[in-house]
Amino acid sequence: MSKESREKLKQISKENKKAVNHYEKIKKRKNIDPSEYIVDMKDKNNVIEFDNLKTYFYTDVGIVKAVNGVSFDIPKGKTVALVGESGCGKSVTNLTLMRLVQGPSGQIVGGEIRYRTESGEVLDLTKIPMSYMEKIRGNEISMIFQEPMTSLNPVFTIGDQISETIELHNKDMSKKQIKERTIELLTIVGISRADEIYKSYPHQLSGGMRQRVMIAMSLSCNPKLIIADEPTTALDVTIQAQILDLMRDLKNQINASILLITHDLGVVAEMADYVVVMYAGKIVEQGTAMDIYNSPKHPYTIGLLKSKPVVNKYTERLYSISGQVPNPINMPNYCYFKSRCEKSFDKCNGDYPSLNDLGDGHKVSCWLYDKDSKGER
Ligand SMILES: Nc1ncnc2c1ncn2[C@@H]1O[C@H](COP(=O)(O)OP(=O)(O)OP(=O)(O)O)[C@@H](O)[C@H]1O
Ligand code: SF4
Ligand SMILES: [Mg+2]
Repeated sequence: MSKESREKLKQISKENKKAVNHYEKIKKRKNIDPSEYIVDMKDKNNVIEFDNLKTYFYTDVGIVKAVNGVSFDIPKGKTVALVGESGCGKSVTNLTLMRLVQGPSGQIVGGEIRYRTESGEVLDLTKIPMSYMEKIRGNEISMIFQEPMTSLNPVFTIGDQISETIELHNKDMSKKQIKERTIELLTIVGISRADEIYKSYPHQLSGGMRQRVMIAMSLSCNPKLIIADEPTTALDVTIQAQILDLMRDLKNQINASILLITHDLGVVAEMADYVVVMYAGKIVEQGTAMDIYNSPKHPYTIGLLKSKPVVNKYTERLYSISGQVPNPINMPNYCYFKSRCEKSFDKCNGDYPSLNDLGDGHKVSCWLYDKDSKGER
């Protein structure tokens, strides 16, 4: 390694330490004044509002701006799909919401996540004390993970595991009521022979059944918001479709909002009310599912929609958009999609495109739709 590179790495490490210490110090404070995190909702119909959220990783080679100014809302009782290629920042957005970003390298450096609690208080989740967050997590906001085996405990029966969460949230329920509710939840998620499955251990179930159990578990606390991060990616295509059907049914039965995270636009077509498309840490397009499917505007969204998954075969890379996402460290100042965009024109070499509202909340970040650049392309 050259002397120059060594010096550069040393400089990065010094700057990282300074930044990380700053954020850790803020996090570790005791007795945070509620005025720091009690906020107002922009719209009372939303259950959650992400506002200019920024989550960075301070790595040895530089800063990864994993979530770089993300803003979107999840209305009450609606399903919002967060889509985009691997590494675009979907999971980090979710981990930020749950306050599970791994420090000290990962830090929330800006923005707000406004959430209306069951008691009606509006909190900025990025700033509340961790002890407060622990109460909300798994209580008002629940999660369905990609790989249920890692979330289910192999040494306890399915019945015990679901019952435990029900008990935790319903202290006044009798043992009999808890068992009845557990069986009821297993039935709701489409498990026939629920009595039998109640007594089974996770390894005795198929992948699809385990995912159903996870969904039952996520419902056991009557959540206001369910986050499903790639809930079907580990399953084969037929089971995937069944789980998505189940989630769609549930969406209509329970009054919870759902944040569905997926790299596959195809899987959300029938389920989402709204779609948010992310690219390299930023939102490039958002709108109703109808807007996105029937009238996609951003060249990236159009590319995503054109790429079709391979039937009956799980492949890591489903997209046929050529080229690669730019290096997350040292992102350019201009549109991040430019190197892969067939529509780019002079203006795309300039600043990062502004967000253009096409009406009714359909927003796109692309110079093609900038009113002032008409005639240039
Ligand atoms: N702990 C970490 N340290 C450094 N960089 C990280 C860390 N976790 C995530 N990143 C980076 O943040 C960016 C966003 O990652 P994220 O996991 O949110 O992607 P994703 O959209 O969920 O992708 P996938 O579809 O593969 O799950 C990526 O560039 C990733 O490399
Ligand atoms: S701003 Fe330009 S380069 Fe970026 S997506 Fe739009 S047309 Fe393509
Ligand atoms: Mg992910």
